[in-house]
Amino acid sequence: MEYQEVGDRLHFPATLRNRDSIASVLKKYIPNSGVLLELASGSGEHGVFFQQAFPLVIWQTSDPKLLHRKSIISWIDQQGFSSKMPKPLDIDVEKRPWPISTQLRSLIKGIVCINMIHVSPWNCTKALFEESKRYLDQNQFLMLYGPFLRKDKQTSVSNFNFDQSLKLYNHLWGLRQLERVKEIALLNGFEQDKIFEMPANNLSVIYRLS
Ligand SMILES: C[S@@+](CC[C@H](N)C(=O)[O-])C[C@H]1O[C@@H](n2cnc3c(N)ncnc32)[C@H](O)[C@@H]1O
Repeated sequence: MEYQEVGDRLHFPATLRNRDSIASVLKKYIPNSGVLLELASGSGEHGVFFQQAFPLVIWQTSDPKLLHRKSIISWIDQQGFSSKMPKPLDIDVEKRPWPISTQLRSLIKGIVCINMIHVSPWNCTKALFEESKRYLDQNQFLMLYGPFLRKDKQTSVSNFNFDQSLKLYNHLWGLRQLERVKEIALLNGFEQDKIFEMPANNLSVIYRLS
């Protein structure tokens, strides 16, 4: 992934391009209180941006990479959110159970995962749904954002090329087919509630426990 760094703070340029459109979708689902759990938070730039945009909730970031968790902490400090935002959790979606306390579990109102399922093995997508259902109830949501393949739509040239390059980098990576993700969702009791077409051929997909 393309990134720049200032001390511990990493800058992922894509976050500047997609954060407003993602926030405009999130706005429809964010409750008036509680905790939003973000998986695969990366640099932490989305986390601090969404915390600023949605001050009524607490944004709980996480990432399995220490480098990323250090960056998240540094962004939280730099933005002056240390008293509001908790430190990032070390969550690898495949390592279960996730390190989430009983107290935090009772406060989680939604789970957000941006740009992870195509840069991790398919088992991570499965684990994501299998574990998320333990923390959500029927009024709550799991949102995935990223590029997908779709049976009913021709893949854009940019997504086709991206998929090829991911597979060359790691044969277990690659864009996921929306319909296959839906199957995993259904197997775990989720409905695919809504699909939002996003800029640059990305989707935001909302799943809810049915
Ligand atoms: C392309 S980056 C996206 C980061 C951030 N969400 C964003 O959009 O800028 C992918 C992220 O997925 C995380 N990741 C990869 N495998 C993971 C796993 N098994 N569990 C949780 N996160 C994972 C990586 O550490 C990385 O931060």
